[in-house]
Amino acid sequence: MSLFRPNIDRMQGYVPGEQPQDSDWIKLNTNENPYSHSPRVAEAIEKAARSRLNVYPDPLVRSFSEEAAKLFNVEPDWILPANGSDENLTVLVRSFVDPGETISYAYPSYVLYESLAEIQGCPCERLLLNTDWSWDLERIRPQVEKTKLLFVPNPNSPSGTLWDNETLVKLIPPKGVLVLDQAYGDFCSMPDKGALLKGEHGSRIVITRTLSKSYSLAGIRFGFAVAHPELISGMRKVKDSYNCNTLSIAAAVAALQDQEWMLKNTRQIQATRERLTLALRLLGFDVVDSQTNFVWATHPERDHEELYQELKARRILVRYMKFPETINGLVTGLRITIGTDAQIDTFLEKLKQII
Ligand SMILES: Cc1ncc(COP(=O)(O)O)c(C=O)c1O
Repeated sequence: MSLFRPNIDRMQGYVPGEQPQDSDWIKLNTNENPYSHSPRVAEAIEKAARSRLNVYPDPLVRSFSEEAAKLFNVEPDWILPANGSDENLTVLVRSFVDPGETISYAYPSYVLYESLAEIQGCPCERLLLNTDWSWDLERIRPQVEKTKLLFVPNPNSPSGTLWDNETLVKLIPPKGVLVLDQAYGDFCSMPDKGALLKGEHGSRIVITRTLSKSYSLAGIRFGFAVAHPELISGMRKVKDSYNCNTLSIAAAVAALQDQEWMLKNTRQIQATRERLTLALRLLGFDVVDSQTNFVWATHPERDHEELYQELKARRILVRYMKFPETINGLVTGLRITIGTDAQIDTFLEKLKQII
């Protein structure tokens, strides 16, 4: 007899990308930043490590909220810091969705949303995207109407595409909350990151952000949500009191204070992304124009799983992805993180040999 709740027994559990701990891999599988964090981050961690670690950190994480608020032109009470953006996704589900209420998400996108729904014990609906990654708003309207919490990564993963605000507004569930997961928001041209929050329906939108990608801090685990203070104060009741630790808070504050460092790295990644896109197209791949730090590549004739295995045998990791029930049935492909120029050169050289 199992002691677990039946929905935990039934679920498979989210499987994160492979994380080999030896350093001789070219790792293009989990959208980490190939460039190091700002030197100010290391200094801040060292200083914090010499501080009073015997006391709990600030549960409101005010030092970070003040920095993040400036980026979105809001007050600090619009910010909810978290132990990685994934933690805020969990907090959102626990805050807004009763078992039995419906969670929906753009499909194909980040399948973690589905695992979170399974844990909560609520039905999860996939809102099927068109083959060109656009929305058929009429087709999905009945699903949106019954949704309590709708997750939309913008830009999306694995496509790398960005939807405009005019489209996103139409996705706000009439009886629920729209979550715009902007994990990759710094790699695209997004004129006003928080514009929708200040619009007519702003009190039903939550933006989530991470420092794992553009700030090169995946190992630190830090993310934050931006939303109307009424939503943030409710979510604060759900999170762990001390969800961010003294060292990670120091690192995250220092990272946000060095915007120049982040922008320099994202510009470099954008340039490498354009070069990789062209090179893959010359090798016969279909590559979606990306607004992120990865590209989605499919080949009309090659087996994607085989390509992934061949690359892995050469110590290059990319993400083989398989979406069984898209609007077009089964879709597979390779999601390739933008590495350094040298990593991408090696990747292309090996891929040419394989192809
Ligand atoms: C769409 C999306 N949201 C959230 C995350 C997780 O971010 P974090 O590392 O801050 O938990 C990822 C990580 O790959 C992602 O792709």
